[in-house]
Amino acid sequence: MSQLLINDYLKQLDIIKRVSGSQRETIVREAFKDLLKAWGRQQGLVFLAEYPLKTAFKTDISVDGALLHELRMPLGWWEAKDAGDDLDAEAAKKFKKGYPQDNIIFSDDATVLLWQNRQEVLRCRVEDTAALERLLRLFFGFERPEIAGFRAAVQQFKADLPAVLQALRQLIEQQAQGNAAFRSAAAAFLAHAQEAINPALTDADVREMLIQHILTEEIFAKVFDDSDFHQHNNVARALYALEAVFFTGALKKQTLKGLEPYYAAIRAAAAQISSHGEKQTFLKVIYENFYKVYNTKAADRLGVVYTPNEIVRFMIDGADWLCEKHFGKSLIDKDVDILDPATGTGTYICELLEHFRGQPKKLAHKYAHELHANEVAILPYYVANLNIEATYAAITGDYAEFPSLCFVDTLDNVGLHTAARGTTADIFGSVSDENVARIKRQNARRISVVIGNPPYNANQQSENDNNKNREYPHIDQRIKQTYIAESRAQKTKLYDMYARFFRWASDRLHDNGILAFVTNRSFLDARTFDGFRKTVAQEFSDIYVVDLGGDVRANPKLSGTRHNVFGIQAGVAISFMVKRAQATKDKRPARVFYVRRPEMETADEKLAFLASQPLRALQFDEVQPDKAHHWLNLTNNDFDSLIPLASKEAKAAKTAAKERAIFKLFTLGASTNRDEWVYGEEQKPLLDKAAWLLGRYEDNLRQPAVFDPAVKWSESLKRRLKAGRAEPFTPAALRKTGYRPFVDRWLYASSLLVDRPGDMAVIPLHEPSICLSHGKDFRTLASGCPFDLHYLGDTVGLPLHRLAQGQEYVDNITDWALRQFGTHYADEIGKGKAARRIDKEAIFHYCYAVLHDPLYREKYAQNLKREFPRIPFYAHFWRWADWGRALMQLHIGYESVAPHAVARTDVPDAKARAAGLDPKPLLQSDPAAGSIALDSETTLRGLPPAAWAYRLGNRSAIDWVLDQHKEKKPKDATIRERFDHYRFVDHKERVIDLLARVTTVSVQTLAITEAMCAAAR
Ligand SMILES: C[S@@+](CC[C@H](N)C(=O)[O-])C[C@H]1O[C@@H](n2cnc3c(N)ncnc32)[C@H](O)[C@@H]1O
Repeated sequence: MSQLLINDYLKQLDIIKRVSGSQRETIVREAFKDLLKAWGRQQGLVFLAEYPLKTAFKTDISVDGALLHELRMPLGWWEAKDAGDDLDAEAAKKFKKGYPQDNIIFSDDATVLLWQNRQEVLRCRVEDTAALERLLRLFFGFERPEIAGFRAAVQQFKADLPAVLQALRQLIEQQAQGNAAFRSAAAAFLAHAQEAINPALTDADVREMLIQHILTEEIFAKVFDDSDFHQHNNVARALYALEAVFFTGALKKQTLKGLEPYYAAIRAAAAQISSHGEKQTFLKVIYENFYKVYNTKAADRLGVVYTPNEIVRFMIDGADWLCEKHFGKSLIDKDVDILDPATGTGTYICELLEHFRGQPKKLAHKYAHELHANEVAILPYYVANLNIEATYAAITGDYAEFPSLCFVDTLDNVGLHTAARGTTADIFGSVSDENVARIKRQNARRISVVIGNPPYNANQQSENDNNKNREYPHIDQRIKQTYIAESRAQKTKLYDMYARFFRWASDRLHDNGILAFVTNRSFLDARTFDGFRKTVAQEFSDIYVVDLGGDVRANPKLSGTRHNVFGIQAGVAISFMVKRAQATKDKRPARVFYVRRPEMETADEKLAFLASQPLRALQFDEVQPDKAHHWLNLTNNDFDSLIPLASKEAKAAKTAAKERAIFKLFTLGASTNRDEWVYGEEQKPLLDKAAWLLGRYEDNLRQPAVFDPAVKWSESLKRRLKAGRAEPFTPAALRKTGYRPFVDRWLYASSLLVDRPGDMAVIPLHEPSICLSHGKDFRTLASGCPFDLHYLGDTVGLPLHRLAQGQEYVDNITDWALRQFGTHYADEIGKGKAARRIDKEAIFHYCYAVLHDPLYREKYAQNLKREFPRIPFYAHFWRWADWGRALMQLHIGYESVAPHAVARTDVPDAKARAAGLDPKPLLQSDPAAGSIALDSETTLRGLPPAAWAYRLGNRSAIDWVLDQHKEKKPKDATIRERFDHYRFVDHKERVIDLLARVTTVSVQTLAITEAMCAAAR
């Protein structure tokens, strides 16, 4: 690679010289610059040209190039000279002026010179490629002591912080107990915070803010040389006052002693940085780095990650262009109020100030009145404050307080609640009244542009993580009334943070305005966002989306770090939505313009693209949304003309006349949220677990304020505990349940311990259902009993019968469907005795067959990914219905079909036996060899290829069975310790038998679906 870069450089140099006919430094140096840039990029270094520096003599100089680490500390410098110059004399001249001598290259088009630590260490001719490589390796291998120190300090910080945090927490607790002045200052601050940020905040939150404040005080003072920051900023002042009540002098020094190396490293690093822009970037890196060590969960929940400048500039420039295009105004013009609702480190506001450079009067007006920013976490709030004010001072030469940064939870700031209450001033006097006044001021403004990067965290992994996004009743209600009400998806999970911010901003914008967000891209094509797409098309007039891709979950070939502009797993898109009063009045749906970057483009390439191509220059495709409000992957087929298998409307219909789908009801599988606790292979061990869990839960009922960590909590279970719900243990709660394909398990069907019972209430215990799952791929499999939510993926079931009003058994196939089929097949069915009438069960089987038809699945693949299937009328109804019945018998009766003949070999595992151990479980299949290794002793052979060709999603039926019988370490610690009794060896013979039967099922299923391919339809 290094030699390739050097060869490229020599080639480039030759071309430049030939084409330009010049040897001048300014012309030929471009080739060497490219070499440094490319080499540096490999090491994550940034090249900055004309880099300003202050010398030891306090003079200002500018080096031709600097290579900087992510922390913005320089790795080394570069000076280019003319071919006619004497390189040594030039270097000496520069050193005299105070140029750095730690790690600097001087080059002309013939020679390269490297100085390190005040000495020349190497010189070479450019065409001596081996020597040049050596020189560059020395240059790039240089390690600045501050960098090494900083890296070590970060590691140390990680190790030391917990102890310091504990000491601080204890100290604050003591103060809360014994210091009246502290208590009253803390109560006043809490009241303010509840008003401004979130009414649900508690003492504990104030303490965390105070801790963040204390820990970061030093950083701000050093990086920005602003030791008075805590006196200037209104919120900092309040926290400082709180701190001053107890935490000063020797106590403070002593407590924070452990963190001193970290602060020292930051001071040393900060001292290397002179330019204002670099300080900003440095602070952002510290901010991410600090937060992740301090509180990883909060960093994730709040979306603590800064936005690359290329994206910020692109969005500002785009918003400016759209403002001009649609409203004849520029962002800088009067009465264009701009708000960043999740400002983080204040990047958008800082870039806006840069954008307005050159028009000082207008800039001053904007800064004082028409730029607004909100932040809910104290650390970024401080960073934003410092960044914004320092940027303004750097541009104008004048310091002025930024009066519109609010410490507030944007999503709570609805309906001008703060202004309405008006009690705050009494509580706070003049201190944090300022923050409340700012919020009121912001709320009184007409906002024309909302721009920013809202957080993207959707849902925590487990309730025991305690990292849940809190509820926002007002915004969530608005989402329900709009995005969810307009959705056709049967399951809509739209309360994630970025959907909330879209909802909030759409409502907050003035009648004419622009919303510009960079967010998760899932709204573009997710099934559950159909109502969102419909709604934004109604509420806005023009929508532009730049799809930056990088969705690692959708395409495993991508890597978050390499392909995603934020280095994350979720895909990213930039959207601009223009709201125009006239268009809204006319009820014209928005025009939607879309452009995407190539799937495999790297993050660097994407950012370079955004840096070089403004919005106005992009070649957008205008999307013609279809009736179901899809924007992407539009299909051009007859799907809409087929009859619906199920629909939200038919489910909700109160009269039979409105039930215009084949099935009346569809239902999700049971979602337990604690599978390890309530599912089991065998009845007895499952009952033991359930009894134990119920016992612990009952104990906890006496002390509902604290959640027993041995219990696997979920939001519902916490709620049930708080409501005092109890349930006696009963073995009668056991139900046979379809757990995964061809794996039934016992479920302890408790209405307390199962979060969402789904089908349990409406599906008769021994009745068939057609189960479906769609998303990445379409899957279907019948179940003869109630089923789990993840039976096939996110599973929806369509039972043949259902239980209505408690226990009454009724058809789940509608009379409407019977009429449709009867009418369509009237001729085919014939008359008189020979007629074979279509009944509801036959329709049930017919649908099951069609859902297995390979041609149907191929033709409607896109549709099946995102909507409920619709069913065509094929010729020869009964042929399909008979296929469907045969498939259903195979799939539901998989345990009683004849086993396929497989050869079994057992070779004793002497080593395991000698050690007194069971054979080692393997459960691995080898389709090419037609074999399955069950454990270190037993192998099955002679399985036909068809055994693997019948697949449900990413696995064959055989592999589902194998996967579900592996010995896995339970995730839940209590289960691991007390109830981990599953041993494959105890189930081995049953599994062998099951595999032989599932092989029969697979072979016969495949035979039927192959026959379908040949059928006329
Ligand atoms: C992705 S970051 C913004 C990054 C910012 N553009 C930058 O470059 O630094 C999101 C920020 O929004 C803040 N935030 C999250 N939820 C918020 C809310 N409900 N109200 C206000 N700010 C919020 C987080 O604390 C975080 O600093």
